[in-house]
Amino acid sequence: MSVQGPLPTLRNTVKTIQAMRDRGEKIAMLTAYDAITASLVETSGTDLILVGDSVGNTLLGYDTTVPVTLSDMIHHTRAVVRGTHKALVVMDLPFGTTTTSTRALNSSAKALQESGCQAVKLEGGTRVAKTVEKLVQAGIPVMGHIGLEPQSVNALGGYGKKGKTSDEAKALIQSAKDLQNAGAFSLVLELVIPEIAAEITETLKIPTIGIGSGNDCSGQVLVINDLIGLSVRPIPKFAKPRADVASTIRQAVQAYVQSVRRGES
Ligand code: KIV
Repeated sequence: MSVQGPLPTLRNTVKTIQAMRDRGEKIAMLTAYDAITASLVETSGTDLILVGDSVGNTLLGYDTTVPVTLSDMIHHTRAVVRGTHKALVVMDLPFGTTTTSTRALNSSAKALQESGCQAVKLEGGTRVAKTVEKLVQAGIPVMGHIGLEPQSVNALGGYGKKGKTSDEAKALIQSAKDLQNAGAFSLVLELVIPEIAAEITETLKIPTIGIGSGNDCSGQVLVINDLIGLSVRPIPKFAKPRADVASTIRQAVQAYVQSVRRGES
């Protein structure tokens, strides 16, 4: 007897995410970089998990995301995939892996095959639209990322808000349209001024996922370490920590060290 019809899948797909946007349901995305955190994030209701190249500054001790490699990303994404079964897992394509369409295609194919993620994210607007088109044609779901592009921090000279001048706003809106036309299934808007993020969200048919871009996007994303207060560095102003895990760890470690000093096991 042959089994017919589509294979059952438990994971959210790009269609699930589009359907949420079409129903006007807000989409929740968080980053995760390891199996345990990913499992906690998923079982607490997150729709998508982003294995962001923010792993560079949150976990790996780099100052920026620039040093993060494709192998680093695949290593962390494999762990996230192992720790989850429901969330759609998106892997960031790190710095230098999307400089040509062919390079981006090879990097993305490797990402899907070796990490088990279901989609990739790449930074850039109109200038990467052709690359996005090529990936989508190859069957790779792509999340776009415009506004602040942290991989370009050395060229930008900082992490400021985007869309403040009318030229910048026009370019962002055009980029959003070009990425949608190229087949991106959703778009991260990072540090875009809220009025422009709202206009982009209104204009597009695909969901926008905002970070520091106001309340009117189709969904929101946050770096997990900023949400749970697990950082030894200042966190972005827009991130509202809802826990203080760094203090909890310090207290537990101090209590342990004191008990060891007292000669207790
Ligand atoms: O790398 C990352 O975590 C990201 C989010 C900030 C969207 O790109």
